[in-house]
Amino acid sequence: MPLVNTKEMLAKAYAGGYAVGAFNVNNMEIIQGIVEAGKEEKAPLILQVSAGARKYANSTYLKKLVEAAIEDSGLPIALHLDHGDSYELCKACIDDGFSSVMIDASHHSFAENIKITKQVVQYAHARGVTVEAELGRLAGIEDDVNVSEEDSAFTDPEQVEEFVAKTGVDSLAISIGTSHGAFKFKGEAKLRFDILEEIGKRLPKFPIVLHGASSVLQEHVALVNQYGGSMPGAKGVPEEMLRQAASMSVCKINIDSDLRMAFTAAVRQHFAQNPSHFDPRQYLSPAREMIKQVVKHKLIHVLGCSGKAFAEPTKKPAAKAKK
Ligand code: G3H
Ligand code: 13P
Ligand code: ZN
Repeated sequence: MPLVNTKEMLAKAYAGGYAVGAFNVNNMEIIQGIVEAGKEEKAPLILQVSAGARKYANSTYLKKLVEAAIEDSGLPIALHLDHGDSYELCKACIDDGFSSVMIDASHHSFAENIKITKQVVQYAHARGVTVEAELGRLAGIEDDVNVSEEDSAFTDPEQVEEFVAKTGVDSLAISIGTSHGAFKFKGEAKLRFDILEEIGKRLPKFPIVLHGASSVLQEHVALVNQYGGSMPGAKGVPEEMLRQAASMSVCKINIDSDLRMAFTAAVRQHFAQNPSHFDPRQYLSPAREMIKQVVKHKLIHVLGCSGKAFAEPTKKPAAKAKK
């Protein structure tokens, strides 16, 4: 099976009332951990590469590793550019063989966001590549961008129909209170489900994307802190909120920090318990296994996409439209 774009997998997710996991990948062990979980759970997967991942690992290496993952697993897998910040970067990834790209022009004005996104859509669609765009800006208390948590960063539901109609984009990332990284909420976790609901009404059958959706599992925070790390107060999006989002119009859920935490927790624990080890295979094996376990948990208990890899599209009316 070749790489697939995200069109069919997100349409099936919409109709089935679940979400596809979009996991950030940076090296072989992360890819293998995710794909092993996907294989056991027969789940469709989106493997996404950020500009930073591209710089770290080289696009060609990551693309070949993802091709190997498809050959090994037989799963429908999309290779997606995460947070492409320019037409040129999106074009380069499309030319490299990515099957899906995100153009994140949300830092520009509404009109400029439409203009850049439309340009990417035209280039991508002519080559069978799907496009995700972003409207609104994710709040972040640790990002480079450091967007404030003011309401102004949330997606304005009144803009979504015009944006989608004018750009022809395939999916839309929105801002409802999640943020990137391992420190998402200072106090109680709160998401604006009212905004998500309104967007769902305005865009029937249209797949919505949730970024900044790691849960920051407290058992991993505890392991990191127990074995020499220092991440006090690390906190993510509660799993029940993600399940609720997946039952609404959210069809793609982005997860990176949870993989980083799992990997780091396993490596720290391994070194603390085996101070004489120096073969990377000794400490990367438990890290890969920890990634697999966290992804399996998400596929089954959070995203609801276990067993959906080869499922026929449901004939029922779109499940999410009823919400
Ligand atoms: O959205 C951000 C992702 O977690 C990717 O992070 O740019 O450090 O690779 P990165
Ligand atoms: P997290 O930092 O919550 O894992 O979000 C990842 C993400 O949105 C990648 O685009
Ligand atoms: Zn993101």
